[in-house]
Amino acid sequence: MKNFTIVANWKMNLLPLEACELVQNINMQYGDLPHNIRVLIAPPSLYLQSLAEKNRGTIKFVAQNCHEKEEGAFTGEISAQMIAASFCEYVILGHSERRLYFKENNKLVNAKARVALDAGLTPIICIGESMAEREKGKTNSVLKSQLKACLDSLHSESDIIIAYEPVWAIGTGFTPTPGQILDTHIFIKEELMKIQKRDLPVIYGGSLNDKNAKAILSCINVDGGLIGGASLSFETFSSIIDTSREISGN
Ligand code: 13P
Repeated sequence: MKNFTIVANWKMNLLPLEACELVQNINMQYGDLPHNIRVLIAPPSLYLQSLAEKNRGTIKFVAQNCHEKEEGAFTGEISAQMIAASFCEYVILGHSERRLYFKENNKLVNAKARVALDAGLTPIICIGESMAEREKGKTNSVLKSQLKACLDSLHSESDIIIAYEPVWAIGTGFTPTPGQILDTHIFIKEELMKIQKRDLPVIYGGSLNDKNAKAILSCINVDGGLIGGASLSFETFSSIIDTSREISGN
């Protein structure tokens, strides 16, 4: 039976009441998920603790980022330990928006992954090529170097999730074809075997929605989805969760 990890990345969206209502709806509908389906929600950090504390159950919570140091004078930042102490178990690292707007690089993502793992969090490490890189035929070499640097010296028994998010597919309505996603996930899994000597969950993100979820999640080596826009409405997000249940046969 296939395992799926379905992650809602709300980014900087939803006001507190909207956020509460959406989580409550998801929790009511999916409070009792089969063990092979993980549903995770990444709200803005301001709401993280209260949402996670009030909604402890099958749905788990995710921070959208953390700082690479354990503590200190870093105004405006939150640490991995703070996240872990706030009933959260996961953190998204290296999202392309962080790489683009906040100039994060693979080395920093690696440092963040270390503190996250030390704090007991599972990092969801994002990798993906830009359109220019894809057009130059550099997709695999970009992914390879991102994986190598982001995972550098991370213990091969750590819980880690890889999110493949082609930058050009994020928020654009364009996605690679299921065949392209399949090929890229095969490549990523082969690289993971070389770097970590094991299989890790690889989820897909980038304009994943209720319409294309079936085709994308049916790809044999797609272990779930990282969903932005379509995770902001109960109808579309729940339809994606339902699709994952249908594909996994429960
Ligand atoms: P969209 O689903 O809005 O394209 O965003 C994907 C994403 O960046 C999830 O992290």
